[in-house]
Amino acid sequence: MNESEIQDFWQKHPCGEDFVGGAENYEADYERFFENYDNFRYTKEPHILECLQNIDFEGKRTLEIGLGQGADAEQIIRRGADWFGLDLTHESPKRVQVRLNLRKLKIGGITNGSAVEMPFAERSFDIVFSHGVLHHIPEIKKTQSEIRRILKPGGELIVMLYAKNSLNYRLSIALVRRLGLIGMYIARFDVNGLVGQHLKNAREKGLWNYLKMENFIHRNTDGALNPYSKVYDLAEVEKDFADFKIVRSYKRFMHAPPLPVTRLPFEKFLGWHLWVHLKPKI
Ligand SMILES: C[S@@+](CC[C@H](N)C(=O)[O-])C[C@H]1O[C@@H](n2cnc3c(N)ncnc32)[C@H](O)[C@@H]1O
Repeated sequence: MNESEIQDFWQKHPCGEDFVGGAENYEADYERFFENYDNFRYTKEPHILECLQNIDFEGKRTLEIGLGQGADAEQIIRRGADWFGLDLTHESPKRVQVRLNLRKLKIGGITNGSAVEMPFAERSFDIVFSHGVLHHIPEIKKTQSEIRRILKPGGELIVMLYAKNSLNYRLSIALVRRLGLIGMYIARFDVNGLVGQHLKNAREKGLWNYLKMENFIHRNTDGALNPYSKVYDLAEVEKDFADFKIVRSYKRFMHAPPLPVTRLPFEKFLGWHLWVHLKPKI
C-alpha cells in the first residue's frame, strides 16, 4: 500500500462531509456548511467537546495532525492554543483555512504534508493532537518517531485511535456485518450505497478473502472504499508507539452500526474511541 492511495481516498472523501450533504452542495456557503457539520459532529459525538475541555491548551504550541473539516481545530484555538495544522490532502487545509478566516481566528500555520515525515524542527511543539488519524497510517512506527522528534521534552501526544476491545469491532464488524454480507452475497442481493459497495468489494476480492479481518477492517471504519485502518488495545499502542509511555487512556462513544447502541451505558469498557495521552520516554 502506498501513501498516494491513502491521500487519494481522503482527497475524494473529505472526512465526514457526506453526513451533511457534501460541501459542493452548499454553493460556496461555507458558513452554513461548517455550522451544519459542527452541529452534526458534536450532537453525534458530544464526548469530543468534553475530552477537549479536559486538555489544557492555553498558550501551548499545538500541532494537529489530520484536520478533516477543521471542527476540532476551531475548538482547540478557542481554548487558547497557538495552533498549527498538518494534513495529507490539499482539500482539507483549504477548507480549514476558509473556516478559520470566516471565524477570524489566528493560527500559527497550516501545512500540506504527511505525518510520516514532517517539515518541522526538533522540539517545536508542546502538544501533538490527532483525532481519528494515526490508525490510518501504515507507517505508524516511523510516524511516532517523527512526533517524538518534534515534541519538546515533557511535551504530550494526545491521540484518538479505534478501539479493538469495543462493541463495534468485536460484535458489529467481526460478526454482524460479516454474517449479513454472507447472507446478502448468497441471496445475490442487488442494492446500491454502502452495502452495494461491500458486495462489489466481495465479488472483486472473493468473498472469503474479503471477510478475513485483516482485509475487512479497512473497509468497515470510514466507508467501504477506505484503504487502511487499524484497531488498538493498549498493548498494541505500546508496540506501535515505542518512543512513548502511556500516561492515561479512556474509551468513549458507543457506536456499533447497524446495532442501535448509542444509549447503552458501557462506553468506558466497550466504546469505539480509545483516547490515549502519551509522553516521550526519556
Ligand atoms: C478520518 S479523518 C479525521 C479528521 C479529523 N481529525 C476528525 O476527527 O474529523 C483523517 C484525516 O487525516 C488525514 N491524513 C491521513 N493520513 C495522513 C498522514 N499520513 N499525514 C497527515 N494527515 C493524514 C486525512 O487527509 C484526513 O483529513
